Amino acid sequence: MKIAIIGTGNVGKNLGEAFEKNNEVVYGSRDPESAKARLNGKNVTTIEEAAKSADVIVLAVPYRAVKESIHEMKNNEKDKILIDVCNPLDEDLKWIKGFHESAAEEIAKHAKGAKVVKAFNTIFAENMKTGQLGNSKLTTFIAGDDEDAKGKVIELAKAIGMEPVDVGALEKARYIEPTGLLLIELGYGKKLGTNIGLNMVKENA
Ligand SMILES: NC(=O)c1ccc[n+]([C@@H]2O[C@H](COP(=O)([O-])OP(=O)(O)OC[C@H]3O[C@@H](n4cnc5c(N)ncnc54)[C@H](OP(=O)(O)O)[C@@H]3O)[C@@H](O)[C@H]2O)c1
Repeated sequence: MKIAIIGTGNVGKNLGEAFEKNNEVVYGSRDPESAKARLNGKNVTTIEEAAKSADVIVLAVPYRAVKESIHEMKNNEKDKILIDVCNPLDEDLKWIKGFHESAAEEIAKHAKGAKVVKAFNTIFAENMKTGQLGNSKLTTFIAGDDEDAKGKVIELAKAIGMEPVDVGALEKARYIEPTGLLLIELGYGKKLGTNIGLNMVKENA
Protein backbone atom coordinates (compact mmCIF):
# COMPACT_ATOMS: atom_id res chain seq x y z
CA MET A 1 0.00 0.00 0.00
CA LYS A 2 1.10 3.57 -0.51
CA ILE A 3 0.77 5.56 2.69
CA ALA A 4 0.88 9.35 3.00
CA ILE A 5 1.93 10.72 6.37
CA ILE A 6 0.75 14.30 6.81
CA GLY A 7 2.96 16.06 9.36
CA THR A 8 6.66 15.43 9.79
CA GLY A 9 7.03 15.69 13.58
CA ASN A 10 7.50 12.99 16.20
CA VAL A 11 4.61 10.77 15.14
CA GLY A 12 5.06 11.38 11.43
CA LYS A 13 8.71 10.32 11.52
CA ASN A 14 8.36 7.31 13.83
CA LEU A 15 5.12 5.90 12.44
CA GLY A 16 6.34 6.61 8.92
CA GLU A 17 9.50 4.60 9.52
CA ALA A 18 7.44 1.73 10.94
CA PHE A 19 5.26 1.68 7.81
CA GLU A 20 8.28 1.96 5.51
CA LYS A 21 9.19 -1.64 6.41
CA ASN A 22 6.21 -3.02 4.45
CA ASN A 23 4.82 -0.13 2.40
CA GLU A 24 5.73 2.78 0.19
CA VAL A 25 5.56 5.95 2.28
CA VAL A 26 5.35 9.57 1.18
CA TYR A 27 5.38 12.47 3.64
CA GLY A 28 3.23 15.60 3.25
CA SER A 29 4.50 18.84 4.74
CA ARG A 30 3.69 22.55 4.82
CA ASP A 31 7.35 23.09 3.91
CA PRO A 32 8.59 20.05 1.97
CA GLU A 33 12.17 21.32 1.47
CA SER A 34 12.97 21.88 5.14
CA ALA A 35 11.13 18.69 6.16
CA LYS A 36 13.17 16.73 3.62
CA ALA A 37 16.38 18.07 5.17
CA ARG A 38 15.14 17.17 8.68
CA LEU A 39 14.08 13.69 7.57
CA ASN A 40 17.40 12.90 5.88
CA GLY A 41 16.17 13.01 2.30
CA LYS A 42 12.94 11.03 2.70
CA ASN A 43 10.23 11.35 0.05
CA VAL A 44 8.55 14.61 1.16
CA THR A 45 6.12 16.63 -0.93
CA THR A 46 3.19 18.97 -0.43
CA ILE A 47 0.16 17.86 1.58
CA GLU A 48 -1.95 17.89 -1.59
CA GLU A 49 0.48 15.75 -3.62
CA ALA A 50 1.04 13.27 -0.77
CA ALA A 51 -2.70 12.80 -0.26
CA LYS A 52 -3.28 12.48 -4.00
CA SER A 53 -0.68 9.75 -4.50
CA ALA A 54 -1.60 7.52 -1.54
CA ASP A 55 -4.15 4.78 -0.78
CA VAL A 56 -4.07 5.49 2.96
CA ILE A 57 -3.50 8.88 4.62
CA VAL A 58 -2.29 9.37 8.19
CA LEU A 59 -3.13 12.74 9.71
CA ALA A 60 -0.24 13.29 12.14
CA VAL A 61 -0.61 16.99 12.97
CA PRO A 62 -1.61 18.79 16.19
CA TYR A 63 -5.36 18.92 16.84
CA ARG A 64 -5.38 22.68 16.23
CA ALA A 65 -4.06 22.05 12.69
CA VAL A 66 -6.37 19.24 11.53
CA LYS A 67 -8.91 21.44 9.79
CA GLU A 68 -6.26 23.38 7.87
CA SER A 69 -4.37 20.19 6.95
CA ILE A 70 -7.52 18.55 5.59
CA HIS A 71 -8.21 21.71 3.59
CA GLU A 72 -4.69 21.43 2.10
CA MET A 73 -5.45 17.89 0.90
CA LYS A 74 -7.81 19.54 -1.64
CA ASN A 75 -10.38 16.70 -1.52
CA ASN A 76 -7.78 14.05 -2.35
CA GLU A 77 -8.80 12.29 0.88
CA LYS A 78 -12.18 11.43 -0.67
CA ASP A 79 -12.91 7.66 -0.65
CA LYS A 80 -9.56 6.95 1.05
CA ILE A 81 -8.72 5.63 4.49
CA LEU A 82 -7.83 8.57 6.72
CA ILE A 83 -6.15 7.54 9.96
CA ASP A 84 -6.60 10.02 12.79
CA VAL A 85 -3.90 9.72 15.48
CA CYS A 86 -4.56 12.98 17.28
CA ASN A 87 -5.13 13.69 20.93
CA PRO A 88 -7.28 16.82 21.16
CA LEU A 89 -5.18 18.99 23.47
CA ASP A 90 -4.47 22.68 23.61
CA GLU A 91 -0.94 24.06 23.71
CA ASP A 92 -0.77 23.54 27.50
CA LEU A 93 -1.61 19.83 27.03
CA LYS A 94 -5.10 20.49 28.42
CA TRP A 95 -8.00 18.32 27.17
CA ILE A 96 -10.46 20.19 24.96
CA LYS A 97 -13.13 17.59 24.25
CA GLY A 98 -15.85 15.96 26.34
CA PHE A 99 -17.36 12.49 26.23
CA HIS A 100 -20.09 13.63 23.87
CA GLU A 101 -17.77 14.43 20.99
CA SER A 102 -14.38 13.44 19.63
CA ALA A 103 -11.69 14.83 17.36
CA ALA A 104 -12.19 11.80 15.10
CA GLU A 105 -15.84 12.60 14.48
CA GLU A 106 -14.97 16.25 13.88
CA ILE A 107 -12.31 15.17 11.36
CA ALA A 108 -14.86 12.97 9.58
CA LYS A 109 -17.11 16.03 9.17
CA HIS A 110 -14.29 18.05 7.58
CA ALA A 111 -12.85 15.24 5.44
CA LYS A 112 -16.01 14.55 3.47
CA GLY A 113 -16.07 11.12 1.83
CA ALA A 114 -12.97 9.86 3.65
CA LYS A 115 -13.14 6.64 5.67
CA VAL A 116 -11.88 7.93 9.00
CA VAL A 117 -10.31 5.44 11.40
CA LYS A 118 -9.05 6.37 14.88
CA ALA A 119 -5.81 4.60 15.78
CA PHE A 120 -2.34 4.91 17.35
CA ASN A 121 -3.15 7.86 19.67
CA THR A 122 -2.47 5.83 22.84
CA ILE A 123 1.10 4.93 21.88
CA PHE A 124 3.98 7.35 22.45
CA ALA A 125 5.69 8.29 19.19
CA GLU A 126 9.02 6.90 20.41
CA ASN A 127 7.44 3.42 20.70
CA MET A 128 5.71 3.41 17.33
CA LYS A 129 8.70 2.17 15.37
CA THR A 130 8.62 -1.31 16.92
CA GLY A 131 5.10 -1.23 18.41
CA GLN A 132 6.46 -2.98 21.48
CA LEU A 133 8.01 -2.36 24.86
CA GLY A 134 10.19 -5.14 26.18
CA ASN A 135 8.41 -8.34 25.17
CA SER A 136 4.94 -6.76 25.20
CA LYS A 137 3.05 -5.68 22.14
CA LEU A 138 1.49 -2.26 22.64
CA THR A 139 -2.28 -2.15 22.31
CA THR A 140 -3.70 0.29 19.81
CA PHE A 141 -7.43 0.90 20.09
CA ILE A 142 -9.18 1.23 16.74
CA ALA A 143 -12.55 2.81 15.89
CA GLY A 144 -14.23 3.47 12.56
CA ASP A 145 -17.54 3.24 10.74
CA ASP A 146 -16.21 1.51 7.60
CA GLU A 147 -15.48 -2.13 8.48
CA ASP A 148 -13.23 -2.71 5.48
CA ALA A 149 -11.17 0.41 6.22
CA LYS A 150 -10.91 -0.58 9.88
CA GLY A 151 -9.80 -4.07 8.87
CA LYS A 152 -7.01 -2.62 6.73
CA VAL A 153 -5.80 -0.41 9.61
CA ILE A 154 -5.86 -3.44 11.92
CA GLU A 155 -3.61 -5.29 9.44
CA LEU A 156 -1.27 -2.30 9.20
CA ALA A 157 -1.03 -2.13 13.01
CA LYS A 158 -0.28 -5.85 13.28
CA ALA A 159 2.38 -5.62 10.60
CA ILE A 160 4.30 -3.02 12.62
CA GLY A 161 4.23 -5.12 15.78
CA MET A 162 1.25 -3.69 17.67
CA GLU A 163 -1.80 -5.42 19.16
CA PRO A 164 -4.87 -3.79 17.60
CA VAL A 165 -8.18 -3.90 19.48
CA ASP A 166 -11.37 -3.02 17.58
CA VAL A 167 -13.47 -0.79 19.85
CA GLY A 168 -16.33 -0.29 17.38
CA ALA A 169 -17.82 2.62 15.45
CA LEU A 170 -16.02 5.96 15.04
CA GLU A 171 -18.11 7.38 17.88
CA LYS A 172 -16.12 5.12 20.25
CA ALA A 173 -13.18 7.45 19.69
CA ARG A 174 -14.84 9.37 22.55
CA TYR A 175 -13.40 6.69 24.85
CA ILE A 176 -10.12 6.12 23.01
CA GLU A 177 -9.09 9.77 23.01
CA PRO A 178 -9.22 10.24 26.82
CA THR A 179 -7.13 7.07 27.11
CA GLY A 180 -4.44 8.96 25.22
CA LEU A 181 -4.72 11.73 27.79
CA LEU A 182 -4.28 9.20 30.61
CA LEU A 183 -1.02 8.08 29.05
CA ILE A 184 0.16 11.69 28.59
CA GLU A 185 -0.68 12.38 32.26
CA LEU A 186 1.37 9.38 33.36
CA GLY A 187 4.26 10.12 31.02
CA TYR A 188 4.54 13.87 31.62
CA GLY A 189 2.36 14.68 34.68
CA LYS A 190 3.62 11.81 36.80
CA LYS A 191 6.99 11.97 35.02
CA LEU A 192 7.11 8.27 34.13
CA GLY A 193 8.51 9.25 30.73
CA THR A 194 7.57 7.96 27.30
CA ASN A 195 8.96 4.50 27.85
CA ILE A 196 5.53 3.32 29.00
CA GLY A 197 2.51 1.93 27.20
CA LEU A 198 -0.77 0.03 27.41
CA ASN A 199 -1.12 -3.69 26.88
CA MET A 200 -4.59 -5.22 27.11
CA VAL A 201 -4.50 -8.59 28.82
CA LYS A 202 -7.08 -11.24 27.96
CA GLU A 203 -7.38 -14.85 28.95
CA ASN A 204 -6.97 -17.22 26.03
CA ALA A 205 -10.19 -18.93 25.02
N1 LIG B 1 4.03 12.62 20.33
C1 LIG B 1 3.38 11.54 20.69
O1 LIG B 1 3.91 10.70 21.46
C2 LIG B 1 1.99 11.27 20.19
C3 LIG B 1 1.45 10.00 20.38
C4 LIG B 1 0.18 9.72 19.87
C5 LIG B 1 -0.53 10.70 19.19
N2 LIG B 1 0.02 11.94 19.04
C6 LIG B 1 -0.75 12.93 18.26
O2 LIG B 1 -0.16 12.96 16.96
C7 LIG B 1 -0.23 14.27 16.39
C8 LIG B 1 1.18 14.73 16.03
O3 LIG B 1 1.96 14.76 17.22
P1 LIG B 1 3.53 14.99 17.15
O4 LIG B 1 4.05 14.67 18.48
O5 LIG B 1 4.09 14.34 15.94
O6 LIG B 1 3.58 16.58 16.95
P2 LIG B 1 4.81 17.43 16.42
O7 LIG B 1 6.09 16.73 16.72
O8 LIG B 1 4.60 18.79 16.94
O9 LIG B 1 4.62 17.41 14.83
C9 LIG B 1 3.44 17.83 14.23
C10 LIG B 1 3.69 18.10 12.75
O10 LIG B 1 2.48 18.57 12.19
C11 LIG B 1 2.76 19.47 11.13
N3 LIG B 1 1.90 20.67 11.29
C12 LIG B 1 0.92 21.06 10.45
N4 LIG B 1 0.32 22.17 10.87
C13 LIG B 1 0.93 22.51 12.04
C14 LIG B 1 0.74 23.60 12.94
N5 LIG B 1 -0.20 24.56 12.76
N6 LIG B 1 1.56 23.66 14.03
C15 LIG B 1 2.50 22.71 14.24
N7 LIG B 1 2.72 21.66 13.39
C16 LIG B 1 1.93 21.56 12.31
C17 LIG B 1 4.24 19.79 11.18
O11 LIG B 1 4.84 19.13 10.08
P3 LIG B 1 5.27 20.04 8.79
O12 LIG B 1 6.02 21.21 9.34
O13 LIG B 1 6.12 19.13 7.99
O14 LIG B 1 4.00 20.44 8.11
C18 LIG B 1 4.72 19.18 12.50
O15 LIG B 1 6.01 18.67 12.39
C19 LIG B 1 -0.89 15.15 17.47
O16 LIG B 1 -2.24 15.29 17.16
C20 LIG B 1 -0.71 14.35 18.77
O17 LIG B 1 -1.73 14.60 19.69
C21 LIG B 1 1.25 12.24 19.52
